[in-house]
Amino acid sequence: MANDITVITETLELVAERVGDPMPLVFQRLFREMPEVEALFVQDKDALVRGQMFQVTVESLLDFLGDRSYGASLIRIERMNHQGLGVDTQVFDRFYLILVDAFRDILGAEWTPETDAVWTRVVRELTGTV
Ligand code: HEM
Repeated sequence: MANDITVITETLELVAERVGDPMPLVFQRLFREMPEVEALFVQDKDALVRGQMFQVTVESLLDFLGDRSYGASLIRIERMNHQGLGVDTQVFDRFYLILVDAFRDILGAEWTPETDAVWTRVVRELTGTV
């Protein structure tokens, strides 16, 4: 839906205005909520993998809302690849929820009920989770 794209894009812009690159905050939150996955990133000293992972997460989300050329299948493939890394499906999908929680915290009062409704529904559609 066009409105979904507008809301999601506006959120990303506002988040960037507030904190610049939100990637470190998202991973901080991930490691706080799921300390067991931090060890998977020990080799990633320069945060390149985390940066790439974050970028693909956001891009696939935008693609999913746009022409759906690759977003949904990329996520399906990554979900399977991540099982090989020891990241099970629920953990994988939770990354999107953590992303939403991090953005909600960053935006505070600017995170409106409409923003919340759109993000919640989009993530649910994207991951197929409730
Ligand atoms: C809590 C959930 C997740 C965990 C714990 C996790 C963990 C990891 C780990 C450990 C790597 C590095 C693999 C390696 O060293 O070869 C990685 C890479 C990657 N992840 Fe995730 N992942 C999660 C969710 C996601 C999600 C939702 C996406 C979105 C599609 C994603 C996309 C990617 C991509 C594209 C890479 C490759 C980055 C690169 O090596 O350049 N991950 N992930």
